[in-house]
This record gives sequence, structure tokens and C-alpha cells, in this order.
Amino acid sequence: MHASAKRQTMPDVNPANLDFYRDVVTGLRASPCQISSKYFYDQRGSELFDAICELEEYYPTRTELGIMTRHAKDMADVLGQRCMLIELGSGSSLKTRVLLEHLADPKVYVPVDIARDHLHKTVRNLSSEYVGLEIVPVCADFEKDFAIPVSDTETHRRVIYFPGSTIGNFEASAAESLLERIARWVGPGGGLLIGFDTCLDKAMLEAAYNDRLGVTAAFNLNLLEHINRELGADFQLADFRHRAVYDEAERRVVMWLDSLCQQKVTIAGESFHFAEGESIRTEYSHKYDLEIFRQTASRAGLMLSKYWTDDSGVFTVALFTVGE
Ligand code: AVJ
Repeated sequence: MHASAKRQTMPDVNPANLDFYRDVVTGLRASPCQISSKYFYDQRGSELFDAICELEEYYPTRTELGIMTRHAKDMADVLGQRCMLIELGSGSSLKTRVLLEHLADPKVYVPVDIARDHLHKTVRNLSSEYVGLEIVPVCADFEKDFAIPVSDTETHRRVIYFPGSTIGNFEASAAESLLERIARWVGPGGGLLIGFDTCLDKAMLEAAYNDRLGVTAAFNLNLLEHINRELGADFQLADFRHRAVYDEAERRVVMWLDSLCQQKVTIAGESFHFAEGESIRTEYSHKYDLEIFRQTASRAGLMLSKYWTDDSGVFTVALFTVGE
């Protein structure tokens, strides 16, 4: 794909969307072209993701939830009393509820998410369910630095909760630098409770990302709708098709949007041409080996304390701590 007709004027983009705009056009000018998976999560994208989590083929959510339900008491005991729980990419905070039920009082919960409306809706629900829990939502892109709020409630340690295999969206070097930042955010004595996908079964993986109901396809295509709405683009959704493939060598599922015809798309006044069969990469979902993950985390200053898996070992929840 190539960008033609360079813009003559400044793009007509809402200042709040400048990073989004820059990321999208930079990604589309690159070859092969790509758009970051973090832009899936507008309101509709967050809802479609919740629907994916309930699909029969999508094993990660129910497997991780099972691990949480079975071992939350143990996890809470290891985390100890009075922790400030900071969740990255909190979404609907589904798994967090299981953890919150078991954590010892008092506690502060800081959900961090890029999707503002969805975040506030989740917080409204949580506040009515967990009276006495201090909830401090932060709407932020955790790939960038954000300020961890100070709380009047005295807490003993900071723990980052990073479930759902969201870490899988990052390539190795980005994952390692995120882990380094996590170690810095929580500080000495702090912890990281992280969930990652340890599935190796190609057929199971490809089924999970190409569900029969087409929810994942709708989730992938909604990215173009999000760009149309926020960046004034004119993607024709019917002219792109969802595809997900497991790359065994790289241990990751790769999601694409394939252009079904030769076409031109305009984004804030700039034209992008797609050939028939040309693809936009929209997501990496890395699958891990516990030992390799442990080594990466250890380079980032995070030491493995304990881990939990399901019976077939397709998902792992692990607790790391930063030395004092
Ligand atoms: C939220 C990043 C963990 O990679 O499995 C689900 C997102 N993409 N189906 C994943 C997703 C397609 C999901 N993560």
C-alpha cells in the first residue's frame, strides 16, 4: 500500500485524537501495514470483546476465571493485607471481582483503561457492589506513562493486576520494557499478578480467533469503524475481511484485515491505496512458555513467587515481586 496525495494542510482531527491519528497514518504508511490493537477498544469494541469472552471457542477467559476462582484465596494470602490493586486494561473487571472478594481490607482499586465510557460504567457497577472499597479510575493508555493516584487510605504495597493475556499484544522488546515500567510503578516490595496464555494447540488457537458466530470478525472490523468515526475516514467495512492465523514459529496469533478489492481510503484528507489481497495487521496475541516468561520478567526486575494453572495448562496466572 502506498500513501498518495500528501496532505497540503493540517489534518482536521480533534486534538484529543492526535496520538490515535499519528499512530494510524504511520502504521498505514509502513509496509506491511498495521494498526495497533489498542484501538479496538471504543465503546462498541469493548462490548464486542466482552462477547468474545463468552464464546465457546474462546477458552482464555473462562480458563483464567476458573484459575482465579480456585486459587484467589491463595493469591490474596500471598498478596497480604492492605494492598493497592492497579489493573491495566481493566475492561469490565470480571476477573478482578473474584480477587476483590478475597483481599484483606482496606484496599484501593485503580482500574486503568483506554475506553473512557466503558471504564466509568464498570466503576459505577463496582462501587455499588463493593461498598467501602476506594475506587480510583484512570483513563489512560498504559503504553505511555501515567500517574498512579495517591490515596489517603494507607496501603502496604502496590500490586499491578494484569490479567487476560493482554501482555500477549506486545512484541518481546515492548513486553520487556512494559514489565520494567511495572517494576518501577510498584516499587520495592510491590507485586505483579499477571495472566498469560500458555496454549500450544494450533487448532484450538485458530478456532478461538475465528469463531463461528463471527464475533471476532466484527471486533476486528469495528477498528475501521472506530477510525471512520474519530478520524473522519471512509473505510468501507464490506471491502475488508477478518483473518486470524497462528504462527507456530513466533508463537503468536496474528489478526489481519484483508482488502477484498483494489480501493482507496481517505483519512483526514490523506489517501491510502490498498491492492486486492493486501492486508492490514491489527493484532498480535503471543502465547508463552512459563520458563521463558520467567526469564523475561527477571531481566525486568520481577522475581517469580508463585504460579497457578488449569489442569490442561492452557493458561497461567503468576505472581512476581520486586526485591526490597
Ligand atoms: C485481550 C489481547 C488478550 O489476544 O486474545 C480476543 C484480544 N483478540 N480475540 C487476545 C482478542 C481477538 C485478546 N486480548
